[in-house]
Amino acid sequence: MIKKGIILAGGMGTRMSPLTKAVNKQLLPIYDKPLIFYSLSILMLAKIKNILIIVNKGQLSQYKNLLGDGKNLGIKIIYKEQDKPRGLPDAFILGENFIKKDKVALILGDNFFYGQSLTRTLLKCVKLKSGSKVILHRVINPEKFGVAKVKNKKIISIKEKPKNFLSDLAITGLYFFDNKVVNLSKNLKPSKRNELEITDLLNKYRQKKKLTAEYIGRGGAWLDTGSIEDFYKTTNFVSAVENRQGFKIACLEEISFQNKWIGKKEILNSIKFYGNCEYSKYLKKIIS
Ligand code: TTP
Repeated sequence: MIKKGIILAGGMGTRMSPLTKAVNKQLLPIYDKPLIFYSLSILMLAKIKNILIIVNKGQLSQYKNLLGDGKNLGIKIIYKEQDKPRGLPDAFILGENFIKKDKVALILGDNFFYGQSLTRTLLKCVKLKSGSKVILHRVINPEKFGVAKVKNKKIISIKEKPKNFLSDLAITGLYFFDNKVVNLSKNLKPSKRNELEITDLLNKYRQKKKLTAEYIGRGGAWLDTGSIEDFYKTTNFVSAVENRQGFKIACLEEISFQNKWIGKKEILNSIKFYGNCEYSKYLKKIIS
């Protein structure tokens, strides 16, 4: 079972400047909560309670003000600063002491996942025994993503932003790895843009026939919130779902409560912490 997870919540957020000049992207709102709630909720739905959040240098206190040590959510959160964006595999180098001898999940702090069978898929992924697993989602513009060609759930080829069509299955920002990921990441060479590339890391697993895939089907949504346009599309999506159904997406306390990690006492603490707002009103409904 994978019991540890890393959220990569640093980055420059260049595409969203000037919004991201003073505030990190993951702290900006997607409708009624900060973006980081959504990636954190995915790890919690996968029943991962031991979490490392990687943030930019100088932004640690903002994240700590928001999420603390996770105790009130029944989870354990620790933080680590990244002094500059060295690429996604840097998570496993910075996270070496956190990972120790265990397997680990990685989610990008700006990815949004939603859908009916999502939790079931996540619970399948954390059962990974060895190798690596990625989550794929069909897209109409594969040339903008890292894509994978798959045969019987095994990935036979991957390419970053392919000019010629390879597949329309995009590799999303949620990955599962065995413990080899730490050493494999340490041995990666920076690419032309001077970053460690996740595609190079995944290719190491693929070459050993150890890279497999799960899917988010057509009933599920995956949105990358990296551009302003996508950011607002995601906000509209969350607002439409929440206002129609009355259920919140990524209410962290609700997930913890359902997982039986916390009780009424912790929810009342959260209500006090958030103050008089719609989110607190929702929390009150959960325990009444
Ligand atoms: P990117 O989309 O590659 O970068 P970014 O979010 O900074 O945006 P832009 O391209 O507009 O500059 O990163 C994906 C996610 O991973 C995002 O949530 C930031 C995070 N990240 C890190 O925390 N550290 C890193 O070294 C990199 C490359 C990304």
